[in-house]
Amino acid sequence: MSTVQVTTEKTYLNRPKAIGIKVRKLSFNPSKIRRHFFANSPVMSHLLTALSSTFPIGEQFFVHSVRNVRDKVQDEKLQAQIAAFIGQEAMHSKAHAEFNDAWRRDDYNLDGFQAWLGRRDAFIKSVHPKFQLAVTCAFEHFTALLGGYVLRHPEVLSTLDEDAIKLWAWHAIEEIEHRAVAFDVYQAVYKDDRTRRIVMRNVTTGFASLTFYSATRLFMQDWRKSVPKVTQNAYGVYMISKMLISLIPEYLSYFKADFHPSEIDYSKIVAHWKDKLADEYGMESFREEDLPQLYS
Ligand SMILES: [Fe+2]
Ligand SMILES: [Fe+2]
Repeated sequence: MSTVQVTTEKTYLNRPKAIGIKVRKLSFNPSKIRRHFFANSPVMSHLLTALSSTFPIGEQFFVHSVRNVRDKVQDEKLQAQIAAFIGQEAMHSKAHAEFNDAWRRDDYNLDGFQAWLGRRDAFIKSVHPKFQLAVTCAFEHFTALLGGYVLRHPEVLSTLDEDAIKLWAWHAIEEIEHRAVAFDVYQAVYKDDRTRRIVMRNVTTGFASLTFYSATRLFMQDWRKSVPKVTQNAYGVYMISKMLISLIPEYLSYFKADFHPSEIDYSKIVAHWKDKLADEYGMESFREEDLPQLYS
């Protein structure tokens, strides 16, 4: 007589799902994106390309820093959120590598910068896992703030080519969806607010100088085409200044003792953009799931 063994062991079928964080594959054509894809402004376009050039290495580091301590997380729901976070960041890394390759085909030289970034990456991976995770928490605050800003300001995305809109809006939405995951892992494992805030101060100066340096490099590599566009560059500087000033209060909220990333409400603007991407850009993966949203 055969017997059926009943087990309470968890399988992938009965694991908790990551509510509100969905891994989506992006389908876009980076080679169709114009060189000065943001409002025909070299300053703003180079800034976004500079940010993109840091993402493949940067987002792999974010995943690494969370994986470092994953086995210390007991909460199954948080484990599911970690899995979704890793899936989203892996997709972002891949898409931005494709975007960067499109520029490599052009006459930009991103390789020297990426080699330097690789050496910084090796160094940061040698410090204590708590600091690595605090670095990720700080960057995740920035990516959520920047994502929220571009979604809330239609004048930003409306100037982009269609394929660039797909890339940046997709990334912005997913950064907002998973913005609390690294933070929740940090709180579950270390809960050291003092270190979290100190690391944010260092990351702020590091991130600002890194972005300025890499954007300036691209601008100078492209100077023959960049410099003559005086009006468009002035517009780019205006846009960057306006964005940075308006984000100061949200940035500073990170230093509160009781800060949590989900306290910033993006639900309406994210819902608006999901509908728009599904209806107007054919991105069916954004067709809204009837699932409860944790962090949108
Ligand atoms: Fe990302
Ligand atoms: Fe992220």
